[in-house]
Amino acid sequence: MRIVLLGPPGAGKGTQAQRLAALIGARHIPVGEIVRSEIAAGTPLGNQIREYNDQGELVPDDLIVQLLLPIVVNERSWVLDGFPRTCGQADALDAILTETRTALDAVVALDIPDDLVIARLSGRLQSQATGRIYHTLDNPPPADDPGPFVRRADDTPEHIARRLEVYHAESEPLEAYYAERGLLRQIDATGSIDAVTAAIISALQPPASNTPARKDATGDQTAQKRASDEVT
Ligand code: AP5
Repeated sequence: MRIVLLGPPGAGKGTQAQRLAALIGARHIPVGEIVRSEIAAGTPLGNQIREYNDQGELVPDDLIVQLLLPIVVNERSWVLDGFPRTCGQADALDAILTETRTALDAVVALDIPDDLVIARLSGRLQSQATGRIYHTLDNPPPADDPGPFVRRADDTPEHIARRLEVYHAESEPLEAYYAERGLLRQIDATGSIDAVTAAIISALQPPASNTPARKDATGDQTAQKRASDEVT
């Protein structure tokens, strides 16, 4: 399957993409992580994109497409977390899919108000050992993850405010873009992590088998397992 995850910063794209990719056997493509790795590696492209990332701005479309093209083209099944973020990037993805004679299966939009974004990002931790994402209060690191656990440099109040502005101006219009194409699945992302996963899996069911899975979208492991069996 080829799935795009949309949503504001802190909506849970990374958290849900990790889970969804594992459930459906697809590659998780975390675009923000790829951007940060390229910068850390100090490549010529990394040096070009550093200033945008440091200021909470989007990397220009041509540079982000250059970074992602080889990854997207070489994988058959993926969950794209953080791309596209502009209508220009969506057009570029369409062109890649047409060229590779593939298509998107669904676009999942995680809906969450700005005040909850701030609460989530203010407590976010990421394990440097496993890459897993946690939260100081809602999802503390488990004993079997050795860490260390770090906060992201762009999770300061100023950066979060700017990232939200950029999201509303540049990325939110993508919901209409994909709704027009019949691909959009809107998910209430304010519930628990398990409840959001169950709602995504339910929304990915083909229409004929939707009803039973939606009734069970409570976050319990049995419902998630049954729904993921149907998706795959
Ligand atoms: P990126 O790293 O993708 O940042 P982002 O979009 O701002 O999203 P986040 O990673 O902050 O949040 P998330 O939605 O993944 O939430 P998470 O799962 O971590 O991009 C960073 C930068 O890279 C951009 O600013 C830009 O410069 C550049 N870039 C990237 N893609 C680009 C593109 N296409 N074009 C141009 N530039 C690009 O969850 C957040 C917290 O909430 C965690 O602590 C988690 O534990 C917690 N949480 C999650 N779900 C729940 C829940 N249901 N209940 C309670 N807590 C929850």
